[in-house]
Amino acid sequence: MINVNKIREDFPILNREVNGKPLIYFDNAATSQTPKQVIDVIVDYYSNYNANIHRGVHTLSQEATDLYEEARLKIQKHFNAKHSYEIILTSGTTHGINLVANGFSSLIKKGDEVLVSALEHHSNIVPWQMLCERTGATLKVIPMNDNGELIMSEYEALLSEKTKLVFVNHISNALGTINPIKQMIEMAHKVGAAVLVDGAQSCPHLKSDVQELDVDFYVTSAHKMCGPTGVGMLYGKEEWLNKLPPYQGGGEMIDQVTFEKTTYAGLPHKFEAGTPNICGGIAFGAAVDYMNAIGFENIASYEHELLEYATQQLLKIEGLKIYGTAKEKTSVISFNVEGIHPYDIGTILDKLGIAVRTGHHCAQPIMDFFKIPGTVRASFAFYNTKEEIDALVEGVKTAKMMLS
Ligand code: ALA
Repeated sequence: MINVNKIREDFPILNREVNGKPLIYFDNAATSQTPKQVIDVIVDYYSNYNANIHRGVHTLSQEATDLYEEARLKIQKHFNAKHSYEIILTSGTTHGINLVANGFSSLIKKGDEVLVSALEHHSNIVPWQMLCERTGATLKVIPMNDNGELIMSEYEALLSEKTKLVFVNHISNALGTINPIKQMIEMAHKVGAAVLVDGAQSCPHLKSDVQELDVDFYVTSAHKMCGPTGVGMLYGKEEWLNKLPPYQGGGEMIDQVTFEKTTYAGLPHKFEAGTPNICGGIAFGAAVDYMNAIGFENIASYEHELLEYATQQLLKIEGLKIYGTAKEKTSVISFNVEGIHPYDIGTILDKLGIAVRTGHHCAQPIMDFFKIPGTVRASFAFYNTKEEIDALVEGVKTAKMMLS
């Protein structure tokens, strides 16, 4: 059970006002808020441990290294990776995807096909387009239906021995659809294709077990799950990470360097060139601890209640249309009100202290599918309340009155 009033005490930002009104934060799909348990870890790190890692004999460096590697172990345990060295700490989801896309340049050739779902964020489209441009491989799209669900029969028809890679998000950032990734991974593996899952939107809502999913690559960002920005992780199966070349060259990722030849470090360091976001990595571990202490089953059932309630209340507003009505959906509602631009609604909501995202949500193909310029997106977290949803509904009514 979620004790939302108690949980809200963990988030200092929820006490602030915006435009003279109490902040109502419904832009959680863009970034989640940070609890004091994580903020304290950041302050503690810079107050007591700040040093570069993996390279000093001095005590501070060793302590910082231990904290960083402990965080990697927490992340490994959370996502149930077999080995800690299969967890590559990155700057975020986009970095992880680009690392893999770059690595596949030497493993993909003309005539090969890569499949990307119609529900992707630009970060899981553009790097693969760039890969196809470099290699001559063909990008094909797994289509969706009007509810924002991928059409599995079409997916099956697209899969063939030419398919080398499949990219799909676990949850769509724009519509909230939860994709049947376990089934999709099984189907891809039958034709010998590898699968990369973008877990940026799933990590705050559910716990993913990479071994149970049998996924080849899973990427995510800490800031979507109560951690800081600028840090994330790429999980890759050991065999795949060994096949991929390094992404960036630099310190940390080497074994021996001479002017004639460089040999590379083993996993995970081969992919971690340069000084990493040390504090961010440690705080990522603290965020994982924080969310697990609340419990993902509690989070999922409470957020589902919020989703159902908000959907019912918003649909009472005449002219309001929700985009994304998948059976399996998380706490994201994308909507428009007939005749009103989403940006105008977002602006009025902001005046009322309510933060939502408006626009194409870095998913222009989804907007094109629905033939709209964008939507208003309200995305809920476990620290939101039904009272806040009531205020959103009233705010949309006010916007509608003022703008129509
Ligand atoms: N991908 C983030 C969002 O959906 C930024 O808002």
